[in-house]
Amino acid sequence: MGNISIKLFGKNLRNPVFNASGTLGYGIEIEPLWGVETLGAYVTKGLSIKPHHGNPTPRVWEERHGMINSIGLQNVGVDRFFDAYFPFFKRKKTPIIVNFFGFTEDEYIACAEKIKPDRFIVALEMNLSCPNIKAGGISFGKEPDMVFDIVKKVKAVTEIPLFAKLTPEVKNIVDIARAACEAGADGLTLINTMPAAGFDVKKKNIPLKGGLSGPVLKPIALRAVHECSKAVPVPIIGVGGIMDAMDAISFFMAGARAIQIGTATFVDPYAIPKIIKGVADYLDANGHKKIDDIAGIANNV
Ligand SMILES: Cc1cc2nc3c(=O)[nH]c(=O)nc-3n(C[C@H](O)[C@H](O)[C@H](O)COP(=O)(O)O)c2cc1C
Repeated sequence: MGNISIKLFGKNLRNPVFNASGTLGYGIEIEPLWGVETLGAYVTKGLSIKPHHGNPTPRVWEERHGMINSIGLQNVGVDRFFDAYFPFFKRKKTPIIVNFFGFTEDEYIACAEKIKPDRFIVALEMNLSCPNIKAGGISFGKEPDMVFDIVKKVKAVTEIPLFAKLTPEVKNIVDIARAACEAGADGLTLINTMPAAGFDVKKKNIPLKGGLSGPVLKPIALRAVHECSKAVPVPIIGVGGIMDAMDAISFFMAGARAIQIGTATFVDPYAIPKIIKGVADYLDANGHKKIDDIAGIANNV
């Protein structure tokens, strides 16, 4: 397998393939099948200042081309993650990206402040799809002004590179991307899930409203990556519906520096190691020495 390592914020990562936040537990769950050291970096479940129990079941609903989830941001809280789980990643020499969220600006700020720089932390990833309680539940990521404000405040309290993870449920994602970068975001993760509803015809009801992920999201994510990569100078992590190595390659060509895999792991728990090998094989077979050789080439064609 060829060398597909990348450098991100001065850190060498063994490959550009990460799990998507919330889709690989706390990392230890996958151990019986493959180890987190397989990943370029592990992305944590969304962490908050206080633990959250999440929503009652059902929490997932399968669609023909995707999946709807409403987990309710269940997590053990930022303190417990660093006490109980972070040592595991250090032992495994696996860098992490810390995904975090809040329901108020103060919660985002307090959470970011708690996370101290460490050589195993590549970046923070702020989930901007969360409802802003003070603004009546509209998500933080929906308006450029709100995005600018919160990113600037979080950036002021951390020295760790900051990725803003954007929601696709906006008028123009390029405007949001620009606002995040003007406020100091060091990178963007594109994209989070899209609001959707499942319908159970037998029961004649809607069993679940939540976020839609999987193959149906891929063209939306690809467009966001392509347009934003032309508009802003920061690295972009592409996420949404990547199911195999060719999907991954299309994201790199569209302008992503790295990618994340979520729903694919629910379909095939070996999807991530298969995609890593498939990306390396593609580069070898096509005479490319490194991932940067194909990065953003769609912009030149
Ligand atoms: C079960 C589940 C839980 C998720 N939890 C989070 C989360 O805590 N924070 C976050 O930013 N995104 C979360 N997401 C969104 C994913 O990280 C990703 O952006 C989305 O699923 C699209 O990628 P995919 O199509 O590869 O799954 C979650 C997605 C799923 C399916």
